[in-house]
Amino acid sequence: MDFNIKSGNPEKQRTACVIVAVFESRRLSPAAKAIDDVSDKHLSNLIRRGDMEGNKGQYLLLHNVPGMIADRVLLIGCGKEREIDDLTYRKIIANSIRALNTTGSLECVNYLTELSIKGRDHSWKIRQAVQIAEHSLYQFDELKSKKKKDRRPLRKITFTVPTRKELPQGEAAMNEGRAIANGIKLTRDLANRPSNICTPAYLAKQAQDLAKKNRSLTVTVLEEADMKKLGMGSLLSVSQGSVEPAKLITLEYKGSKKSQKPIVLVGKGVTFDTGGISLKPGQAMDEMKYDMCGAASVFGTIAAVVELGLPVNVVGVIPAVENMPSGTATNPGDIFTSMSGKTIEVLNTDAEGRLILCDAITYSERFNPEVVIDIATLTGACVIALGKHATGLLSNHNPLARDLLSAGEESGDRAWQLPLWDEYQEQLNSPFADMANIGGREAGTVTAACFLSRFAEKYHWAHLDIAGTAWISGANKGATGRPVSLLMQYIFNQTK
Ligand code: BES
Ligand code: MN
Ligand code: ZN
Repeated sequence: MDFNIKSGNPEKQRTACVIVAVFESRRLSPAAKAIDDVSDKHLSNLIRRGDMEGNKGQYLLLHNVPGMIADRVLLIGCGKEREIDDLTYRKIIANSIRALNTTGSLECVNYLTELSIKGRDHSWKIRQAVQIAEHSLYQFDELKSKKKKDRRPLRKITFTVPTRKELPQGEAAMNEGRAIANGIKLTRDLANRPSNICTPAYLAKQAQDLAKKNRSLTVTVLEEADMKKLGMGSLLSVSQGSVEPAKLITLEYKGSKKSQKPIVLVGKGVTFDTGGISLKPGQAMDEMKYDMCGAASVFGTIAAVVELGLPVNVVGVIPAVENMPSGTATNPGDIFTSMSGKTIEVLNTDAEGRLILCDAITYSERFNPEVVIDIATLTGACVIALGKHATGLLSNHNPLARDLLSAGEESGDRAWQLPLWDEYQEQLNSPFADMANIGGREAGTVTAACFLSRFAEKYHWAHLDIAGTAWISGANKGATGRPVSLLMQYIFNQTK
């Protein structure tokens, strides 16, 4: 999609469609009012006749509006003007793009970025609008032999700012929004690809391809033999049942001076999670191809950082494995030594995410990190606790947790903090090893984070459990691209 920023009156726009807001009840926005004035009250007459109330979700397409150069005018119902908050704004933009896409317009000028929302400036509104537009038009059809083609697909969206003065800021925000949207698309594509295509080796190849295109990015891939030398017994215990060899992928982006400590992002890359010998039930098991969404979000975030050339240092660390049952797989009760030297009794081979992350977290020490943030589809318990709206957040450093929570609020990609109290740690006691890999039924998301925290004692660390937010199930099954938006906002805020 092409995006553009413009200022100027709606009646002057030479375009296939001008999009303007109507509020409840029957009130015209300033842009709609301008059209009304040049059209001899065309809009107010329609509205008086009862064609449009201005309720949320409503829309009305008009042709040949007098006084307009544009071919069409699309009225979008926005509800009560005073009540437009972040969420309503996002829905309004999404509605406008979906409605527009059915009209046959190849391009448009969209005035909805001029709506006023408490506490939000033009940059925010444009950054969001660009992401939402890309998001609502996304399709994953690369594996369909016949693609569903839009009759006349939308090619270019112009968003408006009130005056010329806001153009430079608007353009900067558009570029940020586009880079984030591209990162999200990369994340969704990688995540949606099935496990017979998206293997650990495939992810390694993707990283190498990304680095080939960008000189600011270096990629290294560790093979199983390298990991064995480093003592990563915990990570390797997960891949030992699979014919797909494990890979440890590192992406290093240098956008700032060497002395600047990097933000390290660790992404869980289980390309398929059968559960191993502790085999999962068959129901919806296909969705375990999404168990690499943490890894995919690290790809997407780093690609967006690279596209914008942000003045930060960011390292992505991706442990990539497939969790399979077989004659060489781990048996429950098996004990392994992690890279940290700590020993782990694997009581459930389905709690594999923490087993690969702990070694990746220890490995991250070598980058002398400012912070380490891991992103993982780690626990079904998180889906029970928070559902699909909030990512679970746990951290050993409260200022970092607060930064991530506020980045979530600002980007609309929200997280909610759960406690990481010492009281929970004892649930991981093992009679035979330093710890067990499961902590019982209670507080499953917290005990998983407790397990990880034991490997992150040397630095500020946060854990994002995206089990509920990384993809949606049901008829519209697919990856969401979360939490790329949150992570990008966090990284932006660090550069300010
Ligand atoms: N990848 C799963 C977590 C998951 C399950 C995410 C369903 C999204 C939907 C993870 O590896 C797992 O299996 N966790 C177990 C842990 C348990 C054995 C302690 C779980 O949540 O059941
Ligand atoms: Mn599992
Ligand atoms: Zn898993």
